[in-house]
Amino acid sequence: MWIMSSTSNPFNPVDETVLPAPALAALRAEATAEIARGAAERFEEGRGYKEPEALLCALLALPDLDAALDPAAPAPDADAIDKAARLSRAVAAAMDAAYGPEPIAAAAATGIPESDATFTVADELLAKHDVDASAGAEARAAASSPAGGAVGGDRAFETAAAHTFLQRVLYRINRLSHFWYDDLESYSNERSLFLQALRNTIERRWQRWETAQLPAGVAARCAEAGLDEVQQALKEGYARDVDPPHSPALTFIRDEMGPLGYAHLLAIGSVDGLVEASRQSRVCAGTANSIQCAVFRVLSEEYGGGRYARKHSTFYSAMMQEAGLDTREEAYLDLVPWQALANANSNFLLTERRRHYLRYLGALTFFEINGPSVYKAYLSAGRRCGLSERACGYWELHIKEDERHGRQMLDEVALPLAAMYPDNAGEVLLGYEQEAFLGARAGAAVTEAIRAAEAAAERAASAGQV
Ligand SMILES: [Fe+2]
Ligand SMILES: [Fe+2]
Repeated sequence: MWIMSSTSNPFNPVDETVLPAPALAALRAEATAEIARGAAERFEEGRGYKEPEALLCALLALPDLDAALDPAAPAPDADAIDKAARLSRAVAAAMDAAYGPEPIAAAAATGIPESDATFTVADELLAKHDVDASAGAEARAAASSPAGGAVGGDRAFETAAAHTFLQRVLYRINRLSHFWYDDLESYSNERSLFLQALRNTIERRWQRWETAQLPAGVAARCAEAGLDEVQQALKEGYARDVDPPHSPALTFIRDEMGPLGYAHLLAIGSVDGLVEASRQSRVCAGTANSIQCAVFRVLSEEYGGGRYARKHSTFYSAMMQEAGLDTREEAYLDLVPWQALANANSNFLLTERRRHYLRYLGALTFFEINGPSVYKAYLSAGRRCGLSERACGYWELHIKEDERHGRQMLDEVALPLAAMYPDNAGEVLLGYEQEAFLGARAGAAVTEAIRAAEAAAERAASAGQV
């Protein structure tokens, strides 16, 4: 067993005093190496999109992106214009691969097929700078198979790589709305019109695709439901989701996953867990009323009532330290499956736009209601693996606090909010249902990633023994 344990844990079969400090350090290093290997493999999956993602990073690093792309500037930056055009084409090709070549809803007005929407960003750039338009068509043809021969025609792989790329582009733009205590220059382009256009273009198609992924009839039921029906459905949702039977993914985590898998779980979860509730902080501004105060009360608890030692992210960090993992916020970004990044990006979108306020709070209601049942499985896994209390403390805290948060979100937020907006009440329910769907999809993907990491570790171990 590679990880330390605590004698204070009655479920713990291992006494940490048995393992001398150097052995513990070696075991931690082994876990860290395995996680890093997993990250490399995950990144490799998106290999066809590594180059366009690097283009985005290069553009983000410019001191003033929009000025560099401005044709009226005294010295337009030809290199930046070329990078922006290539990135836009890769995004458009990825959207076709991930979401299918659907026609744009606004086609009637614009006559532009949606798969061309991003090209308008790129082509406008080219036109403004008198670049031969045929160069754009050529590049598009090349970009339409961005993974090239590397994927060998594997459609599922290609689609997954496209989803990964698109979600990473969204994340890289969305993350600019959080403060990371890093170089101030890294926020120079947070209000760039080019980045906004890119994000909006992806979101428009992605969101339509997401709605189509929901179980049959859910979106229509939410759209048609009256207030009474919505409130009844939310109450039934609470009864169903507060302690449901565990899914196959969660059952695997609870009963089978080993210590390495546990560390992998912590690593993937860290991209969210180390900045926990940050997005919720974006919906607390505005008119004061009892709903706003209930939302803030939940946020305040997530933030430890303003005490760093009690902040939930601090507990998450402690848990990672105990497992010998890197506690920097985005250290394991490359490990995160696109399905889990989609949850984060969906959250960014819903908290960014006041228009989606009802949907967001419906989503948060599900998240708080359902959380404890998930955390109970994680806690059981940690204890079964013989981990210390510190390595599982975050889950224990959440089981207690989220049981309260779930009830509070239903009674003090979701139900009264629906009543306040009877004509839009269905949006609260849509947010709730969609969060349930996205959470289950992400959970299954994370479990797959854990299984793959454990299998890789086993293969590495048996290869070493030969
Ligand atoms: Fe929390
Ligand atoms: Fe909570």
